[in-house]
Amino acid sequence: MKKSNDLIAEAWDKLDKAIIYYHGRPIGTVAALVPGSDALNYDQCFIRDFVLSALAFLISGKPEIVRNFLIETLALQSHEPQMDSFKPGPGLMPASFKVVTKDGEEYLTADFGEHAIARVPPVDSCLWWILLLRAYVKSTGDTALAHQTDFQQGIKLILEMCLAHRFAMYPTMLVPDGSFMIDRRLGVYEHPLEIQVLFYAALRAARELLLPIDNNYSCIHSVHQRLATLTYHLREYYWIDLKRLNEIYTYKGDQFGQEVANRFNIYPNSIPIWLTEWLPDDGGYLAGNLGPGRIDFRFFTLGNLMAIITSLACEEESQKIMNLIEQRWSDLVGNMPMKICFPALEGIEWQIVTGHDPKNTPWSYHNGGHWPVLLWLLIAAAQKTNRIDIARKAIDIAENRLFQDEWPEYYDGKNGRLLGKEARKYQTWTIAGLLVAKELISNPTHLDLLSFDME
Ligand code: GLC
Repeated sequence: MKKSNDLIAEAWDKLDKAIIYYHGRPIGTVAALVPGSDALNYDQCFIRDFVLSALAFLISGKPEIVRNFLIETLALQSHEPQMDSFKPGPGLMPASFKVVTKDGEEYLTADFGEHAIARVPPVDSCLWWILLLRAYVKSTGDTALAHQTDFQQGIKLILEMCLAHRFAMYPTMLVPDGSFMIDRRLGVYEHPLEIQVLFYAALRAARELLLPIDNNYSCIHSVHQRLATLTYHLREYYWIDLKRLNEIYTYKGDQFGQEVANRFNIYPNSIPIWLTEWLPDDGGYLAGNLGPGRIDFRFFTLGNLMAIITSLACEEESQKIMNLIEQRWSDLVGNMPMKICFPALEGIEWQIVTGHDPKNTPWSYHNGGHWPVLLWLLIAAAQKTNRIDIARKAIDIAENRLFQDEWPEYYDGKNGRLLGKEARKYQTWTIAGLLVAKELISNPTHLDLLSFDME
């Protein structure tokens, strides 16, 4: 078995090899180091994937690539008025981009989901972009970049798109199925936790980044208003623990009017059988989704861990989420931290919800697979809640196995024992995720890059 230092040196080396250059400057990293014909779009730089590389670069004192990335992706942001409904709307950031050479000239092409395999626009890209800008400013002190007119306008364009009042009566954002890390059908449409937590964090970041000038006044005002209602809504209605489960269990259905306990008309029979035994007495979590007549009771990892890191969850709730992870360790962590969501959709439910998707079969890929990129979130949340033993245990499980298995994208099986059936090897965010996790363990102050205080 290799020594930890050798493994880490190898990981940094691989991360360097993943760098994409544009006009001689580093601007991003490929999603995976895969040989040509197998590449599909894994030779592109995905915005969400690059966040991990960016954190690793910021922590190791190499902010230049992050700066270049922020500038180039801002230039790719869609400005098109929606005359042509087949084009992305203004404010949208691409899922990924790539350097192409034509007639000896290099230029960038962006994919807003029109080429990506599952064909969904990425709502999370613009939210991650704002969070990364804040992390860059915090790490370097380069506020001048965020204060540039084009950056202020870029932030406002994103906010205008996200804050627009459309066919919704909730402060959460209404989005299509698969518009984030889970980028194909999995019944994660409407108001998925994963997007709402990023939305909340991006609003908090935007509030810090927008200059208090006349031009920004109405936008800042809308951000304040939306943050207040969104925070209340998520804390109040998404939270599930035994007390709340009992409330839902005794809900009356079909009530009319404003002042009703069952505000979303949830029928108690929709509580899944597995949950009543699975939820520990001192555990809790934020539900995967909430809309009219619907709570998605699945546990989604990114949303719950980001809720801890960004202080959307209060101290007590954060501890309860960590209790749940500790007590349901084999389901949620198992042989590779950590499972993307629990439980998997099976049988006819899988057929209908995913449209028979052969990649998202039960306990594989997005449908209950284990994604090592989520390790850093577990470490960060463990640090924020002072549950260091959990952080150490998770790193020990992941470290050697990731090297031996050549940095796979994901693992399969109920407990993550199998290599992901179609997992790419040398997946960049797997590599960067472990590096960030190790850096967080040795220096917890790096957590400041993404965390927010309780308010
Ligand atoms: C897959 C994942 C997505 C990721 C992309 C590149 O499409 O579902 O989350 O960004 O691969 O790694």
